[in-house]
Amino acid sequence: MCGIVGYTGREQAAPILLDGLSRLEYRGYDSAGLAVRDGGAPAEVVKAVGKLHHLADKTDQGRALRGQCGIGHTRWATHGDPTVINAHPHVSGNIAAPGGGAAESDVVGVHNGIIENYAELKEKLLRHGYVFYSDTDTEAVVKLVDYYYKKYGIGPVDAITRTMVRVRGSYALALMFRDYPGEIFAARKDSPLIIGTAEDASYLASDVPAILKYTRSVYYIDNLQVARVSPGHAVFYDLNGDETAVPLTEITWDAAAAEKDGFEHFMLKEIHEQPAAVRDTLNSLVKDGRADLGAAGLTEDIIRSLNGIVIAACGSAWHVGMAAQYVIEDLAGIPVRVELASEFRYRSMPMNENTLVIVISQSGETADSLAALRVAKERGALTLAVVNVVGSTIAREADHVLYTLAGPEIAVATTKAYSAQLAAMDVLAAEMARARGMITGEHYARLLEELAALPDKIRRVLEDKERLQWFSSKISNAHDIFFIGRGLDYAVSLEGSLKMKEISYIHSEAYAAGELKHGTISLIEQGTLVIGVLTQSRLFEKTVSNMMECKSRGASLMGITVNGNFAVEDSVNFTVYVPKTDEHFTPSLAVVPLQLLGYYTSVSRGLDVDKPRNLAKSVTVE
Ligand code: F6R
Repeated sequence: MCGIVGYTGREQAAPILLDGLSRLEYRGYDSAGLAVRDGGAPAEVVKAVGKLHHLADKTDQGRALRGQCGIGHTRWATHGDPTVINAHPHVSGNIAAPGGGAAESDVVGVHNGIIENYAELKEKLLRHGYVFYSDTDTEAVVKLVDYYYKKYGIGPVDAITRTMVRVRGSYALALMFRDYPGEIFAARKDSPLIIGTAEDASYLASDVPAILKYTRSVYYIDNLQVARVSPGHAVFYDLNGDETAVPLTEITWDAAAAEKDGFEHFMLKEIHEQPAAVRDTLNSLVKDGRADLGAAGLTEDIIRSLNGIVIAACGSAWHVGMAAQYVIEDLAGIPVRVELASEFRYRSMPMNENTLVIVISQSGETADSLAALRVAKERGALTLAVVNVVGSTIAREADHVLYTLAGPEIAVATTKAYSAQLAAMDVLAAEMARARGMITGEHYARLLEELAALPDKIRRVLEDKERLQWFSSKISNAHDIFFIGRGLDYAVSLEGSLKMKEISYIHSEAYAAGELKHGTISLIEQGTLVIGVLTQSRLFEKTVSNMMECKSRGASLMGITVNGNFAVEDSVNFTVYVPKTDEHFTPSLAVVPLQLLGYYTSVSRGLDVDKPRNLAKSVTVE
């Protein structure tokens, strides 16, 4: 999604803004722009379509834009095509040269999110003599701020709060006012924005990695708040324009955690960080041989009172939910439904205070997941967020939070956050089973021991990566790949298929193995690759039979199974073994070869692994 950066201080702003934007590139974008002002001079705006280096070239790496205060933006098009004119920043004035130029405007701004009533606002502004040059919703917001600013002769904070009351939708806004040199004004609703302060400088960003190099002291500006930012200071206001306190938070992430650290891609680095991500997450949730969900406020009484669980999430986080449902139902005996957050928000599922709605999200900002959380709260359910980004909106709004400790995830395709989420959900399942008396103390201890052994087993799976690299080069011209499995193996297949298609652009589908013959098997032709996940002993023979059905129609086969199941080699062309563990936890191991397969296939095809086309890291629009 779009990225915002801002800087005000003593240094030249443009190079810092370009650096910040480069650290947000992973979020996905199709154009970028900067607005920089030198003292009281009007802001100069420069924009470019395509990769950030076009903007850097256009500004001589930022040197051509003089000034110590500025804002920058990477845009992922929603309203209006990805063109220079639609790129941000946008200005309140009536004329803006297509590629930028000096903006003789009183207000200049950048925006993340979607303004739902922008057409209506635009009409109003047109009636008041404003002329629009772009197709964006953002231009309407910047002009509306300007309109209130002039109509009522009020200060920037009041003009912004009036605008916030008038607009519908989601936004993170950073604005500069011509009459307020050296200051940036910011506001947000349902779209992330942080403000970092250092001794003589302040920074704005839509995500932590953009400013981590400069400061670790940040304010998480709250929903419906406005910030007035000057070098080294930030003052916050509520919707009434009254000053309000926002706590200063220290970011504990290591700046190096957001660097590639010698790996060719962030995705490969993050795949290798999985043992640590899983270990850290487990260590934070398990103390002295007992799950400790105290920090999340999930008491035994709450767990015992539950009569149903709904898991709502998107993409890979939804796949974690798909896996968790089998584990929770099997161990704790609580019925679980798993819903795509984008669907859940529009259905009328009956629930009450004994229903636990679990929203799983790496970013904690996914618009559909956030909406699902709010719907669940409105309907009276108890809510739990399983979130990676501390201070994110979902984490703040849920009744209870379990944090995963995966650290910053930069590659668009998730890997370590997925694994950390799986581990957190497995601890939750074991704890629910214990609290509800569904398993013996001995069984519980065994489960926790198996979980504790996972990081080392993941590391062992990673040692086998050269074989997967070799196999990926063989399949890199495939047109279709099918991933099949039953039960937990089906849940892992879903993730394997997504990893493959999203970064290699090869069409792939995940199917419950037994369902294939009800239609989809007609797609199998000579040479189609079918990958079977075979880690569940009870379902092993059945999935192998389904793979054989494909083989007899021309498919070539790959199998992922646990050490010891060597007989599988008689039937499949390529086999990958993962260490044995409790069968509830095999997804944590089986997913690793599938991630590597997607990764190496994308590399073989020469694609942009970390920033696949059309995708964004954090999907903050509906
Ligand atoms: C796929 C991927 C996405 C995310 C999804 C939810 O590799 O990363 O499918 O899982 O967009 O994002 P979060 O977890 O931030 O809510």
